[in-house]
Amino acid sequence: KSVETEDKSSDVVWHLASVTHEQRVASLGHNPAVLWFTGLSGSGKSTVANVVDKLLHELGCKTYLLDGDNVRHGLNGDLGFSDQDRVENIRRIGEVSKLFVDAGLLVSTAFISPFNADREMVRELLADKQFVEVYIDTPLEVCEQRDPKGLYKKARAGEIKNFTGIDSAYELPQHPEIHVKTAEQSIKECAEQVVNYLKDNGYIN
Ligand code: PPS
Repeated sequence: KSVETEDKSSDVVWHLASVTHEQRVASLGHNPAVLWFTGLSGSGKSTVANVVDKLLHELGCKTYLLDGDNVRHGLNGDLGFSDQDRVENIRRIGEVSKLFVDAGLLVSTAFISPFNADREMVRELLADKQFVEVYIDTPLEVCEQRDPKGLYKKARAGEIKNFTGIDSAYELPQHPEIHVKTAEQSIKECAEQVVNYLKDNGYIN
């Protein structure tokens, strides 16, 4: 009998003391997830992710944007661009994204995230359907022509080592949920493609 009483009271304490993920999500108008934008430098990840974040915000969703350059100045300021550092970069961002998703947000992340194993590692961290891989598929020639920060020019001149697409690998996503071609559509169309996927798959109304 005492064991029964103990079990019951510990159940009650559990429910009173904790807000479960389901309870957080129940009061939202959307299903939380990470929109994991991946692609070469200059592919348009950040640009499209920013517009998606704005559109979702305007629809009343709770959102957050994690962007490559910004995170590398703060949380991951100790990391460079060796393969090992890129793996750690993505691992930390995956863990942070998981916390934001648990809090109920639609998180957009914009990192090159060049390795399949790391993207799959983040997918595994999250529950089913909470990881939406968005491949920003822009040919290297186009990225290099855009060269918004002049980094490709420096990489070609040997002034930057381990530059993705030049002397560091980018592994193509195998089964991205969303495949966006920025060279063939406007930024607005690319962003709407992502938002429409979220509507069609029940993430947002
Ligand atoms: S990664 O591979 O996911 O860890 O990279 P990420 O955190 O997204 O950082 C990419 C941005 O860093 C700048 N940068 C470089 N990119 C690739 N390779 C090298 N060696 C490099 N050095 C600096 C670059 O501005 C990237 O920004 P985006 O927005 O992708 O152009």
